[in-house]
Amino acid sequence: MGDPDFVQQDFQRRLREIPPQGMGLSVDVYSPDLFVLVNKLRERGLQPGYLEVFKATTTALTTVRQAVPDIPLAYHGEGLWITQPDVRESPFFQQDVGEMVTQLNSIQSLWLNHECAMKQMAGYSFGTYVPPLYTRLSAEVVAENIVTVQQAMDRQGRRGDGTAPLFLLEMPPLTYFSAGTIPIPHFFRLVTALVPCGLVLDIGHLWTVYRYTGACRRTSLERFVREFLDEFPLERVVEIHVAGLACHESVDESEGGEGLPEWIDAHAAPIPSILFTMLEQVLAHSNLVSLRAVALEVDTKPIEMIVEEYAETVRRFSLLVQQTMARETAVEQLMGLAPRPASVQEPVCQSDRQQLRDAYARYAQIISGQAPMTGPEWQEVAAEATGVARYRTSYVPHEILHWGGDLAEMFPQTCRTLAERGICLTEFVSFWFRSPRLITHSYDFFLLKIERFLEFVTERAPDAQVYAEKESDILRQAYAQANEVVEPVMELERAR
Ligand SMILES: [Fe+2]
Repeated sequence: MGDPDFVQQDFQRRLREIPPQGMGLSVDVYSPDLFVLVNKLRERGLQPGYLEVFKATTTALTTVRQAVPDIPLAYHGEGLWITQPDVRESPFFQQDVGEMVTQLNSIQSLWLNHECAMKQMAGYSFGTYVPPLYTRLSAEVVAENIVTVQQAMDRQGRRGDGTAPLFLLEMPPLTYFSAGTIPIPHFFRLVTALVPCGLVLDIGHLWTVYRYTGACRRTSLERFVREFLDEFPLERVVEIHVAGLACHESVDESEGGEGLPEWIDAHAAPIPSILFTMLEQVLAHSNLVSLRAVALEVDTKPIEMIVEEYAETVRRFSLLVQQTMARETAVEQLMGLAPRPASVQEPVCQSDRQQLRDAYARYAQIISGQAPMTGPEWQEVAAEATGVARYRTSYVPHEILHWGGDLAEMFPQTCRTLAERGICLTEFVSFWFRSPRLITHSYDFFLLKIERFLEFVTERAPDAQVYAEKESDILRQAYAQANEVVEPVMELERAR
C-alpha cells in the first residue's frame, strides 16, 4: 500500500489549493429553491462563504454557477458506491464518474464530497444510505475506489486555475445500527493512511455513532467525542457539516425509553442545540489543522428556518471558525514535492474481493430481514438486536412503500385492484429483497420503484398489470419532464 508519509504530503499539497471558505450552506438546487433562499439571506445581510450543491442536472448546476458568480461552489456527489468491491466493474461506474467530473467542472468545484456509504450492494437496492461494513478489508476497498475517482478528477477535473478537485470522504450517519469488526475512527484512519483524500465530519452523524454503537450506554457524550476525536484522523477533516436530527416518521416517539431519543439524520428538521455543543468541542481540538469550511446542511428545510439557524450559527461561530482555519501544519517538507498521481500500490486480491462481496450480500439480506445475523461483523449488533430490528421492521418497509414516492399515490388504481384481490402492499417489501438483481442502469430509486412494482404486479396479480403499466408510463413521463424543464434562474430574476 502507499507510503503513509507520502500520502500525507500529497494530501497537504492538494489541500493548499483549497482556500478557506468559512461558513456556508450545503444545499439542493430545488428543495428549497436555491435562488429564493440566497435572496432571503441577502435581505438579512447574510452572504454564505460558499455553497455546497447537491448533485442535480448539469444544466441546473451551470445555471447556478452563472446566477451566483460571487459565491464559491462545491459539489456534494451521489451514486458512486465506493464502498463496494465490484463498483469499478459496473458498466455504469465510468459513466457516473464522467458525469460527476462534468458537474464538478460546471460549477468549478473545489472538492467532491461523497458519503462513505451506499444505497446499492451486491444487487440489492435501498432508498437511503447504508453505512459500510467497518472492517479492515472494507477500508482497503474504499481506498482503492477513491484512488480511481481521484485519478479521473486529476485527469479531467479542472478549475480555472488548473487545479483538480479533492475527494472528501464523509463519515455517514448510522440508522439504528453499525456492523463491523473495527472501531469507526480506526476505519477512517486506515483509509487516510492509504489515500490523500480529505474528510467531512458531520456532527449529527457523529451523534448517531454515539447513539447506535452502544457508546451512549457506556460513557458521556462529551467523553465519547473526546475519545473519538483522538482516534479519528482529524488532521484530514477539510469540511464540517451540521444538520438536523429527528425521529423517523415510522417510529413512535413515546417508545424507546433508554433516555436518548431515537434520532436519525434528518436535514429538514431543526438542528438540536447539543450538536452546537459538540461543534465547539470539535473546533477546539488541536488536531483539526486542515479545516477549510463549515456548512449547515439544509436541503429540504423550510427557508425561514434555514435563515434563522444560519444567522445564529454565524453569530456564534464565525470567529471561532476563522481561527480554526488559520491553524497550519508544518509545510516546509512540501518544498520541492512534485505532484504524483494518487495510487494504491497493492490492489486488493480477488479472493478478498469475493469475500467482501459475499459479506455485503449477507449484509443486505440481514438488514432487510431475509437472513439471520451471522458472521463476525454482526456479533455486537446481534448482542443488542433492537436497533437492527427497528431498521428491518419499520425503516425498510417505510422506505420501500412510502419514501421517495408513496406507492398508493403513485399507483392508485393498481393499489385499489390489489386490495380487492386481498394482496397486501407489505408483500412488496419481501418481493423487493427476495433475490439480488442485475443492475441495469445508474441508481435512481424512483425509477427502480416503478420497475420493481410492475414486476410485482405482473407476478402477483397479472390482471392488474394493464393498470400498473398505464400508471407507470404517466409517472415516467412526468419524472422525465420534471428533470428537464426546471429553470431556476427565472426564479432569481423574479425574486429580485
Ligand atoms: Fe453531511
